[in-house]
Amino acid sequence: MRTIERVADVRAFSRAARRAGRTVGLVPTMGALHAGHLALIRAMVRRTDAVAVSVFVNPTQFAPGEDLDRYPRDLDADRRLAEEAGAHVLFAPPVEEIYPVEPGVWVDPGEPGRILEGAARPTHFRGVLTVVTKLLNAVEPDWVAFGQKDAQQAVLVRRLIDDLLLPVRMWVGPTVRDPDGLALSSRNAYLDAAGRRAAPELYRSLLVGRQLLEAGERRAGEIAARVRARLAATGVLRPDYVAVVAASDLSPVDPVAGRVLLLAAAVLGGVRLIDNLCLEVRGDRVAPSEL
Ligand code: PAF
Repeated sequence: MRTIERVADVRAFSRAARRAGRTVGLVPTMGALHAGHLALIRAMVRRTDAVAVSVFVNPTQFAPGEDLDRYPRDLDADRRLAEEAGAHVLFAPPVEEIYPVEPGVWVDPGEPGRILEGAARPTHFRGVLTVVTKLLNAVEPDWVAFGQKDAQQAVLVRRLIDDLLLPVRMWVGPTVRDPDGLALSSRNAYLDAAGRRAAPELYRSLLVGRQLLEAGERRAGEIAARVRARLAATGVLRPDYVAVVAASDLSPVDPVAGRVLLLAAAVLGGVRLIDNLCLEVRGDRVAPSEL
């Protein structure tokens, strides 16, 4: 596996692959790779012929005071893991390669980027969509993969691709969880032992919401309130938002019907955790769905 730092070199890799009749996959990451990332890389290895994994801790998606400086970084481990998963290139550009100048043009996520995570982190998705656009333009992949764990990000990137007619297909991989239900995230490393023990309560609270749906409850507000109460009852998880929205565009759904996301964010000992379930609600039936 090659490690590439320059946009021109990763673009040359991708164009050479395509000239040779091979398809190119991209897995954008901020590094600190875990089993969730590796599942995305393996999926791209199955689907495409030449796979690039980008490792770039994108400064523009962090607000001042957030965890940019302490975000976990271990490029040697990332290189080893990406290679074991079958990647062909690790694209690890320095900041000045992606941001040679302060961005003058940004990709605005619109209203769906200002709710949920965007309400707590108002500049976050502008930074995400801007860097994803840059990474797509650098690598020019046929396929790009994202994880369902960051469901709002995945919905916004799909909208970016559709709205701006970007010539790439997107695949969203299911959330990978520890055996106790905690969704894998590079930020789980911030949890202390007690926090780690309590963290799966976020997922368990979402399951309460799914049980309500399975029992026939269709009022979005009632489901959100019950999940929020379950989170608050843990005494350690401080709920930020709980919402049931349309999986296609994050718009409100009430009564709940169709393909929906049940999303929650909570703070645990200073660490912000997010998780979600994607469900298909048709009449009496409630089934897990892909995002
Ligand atoms: O999900 C992430 O790791 C980041 O938000 C992404 C998509 C790599 C953009 O920096």
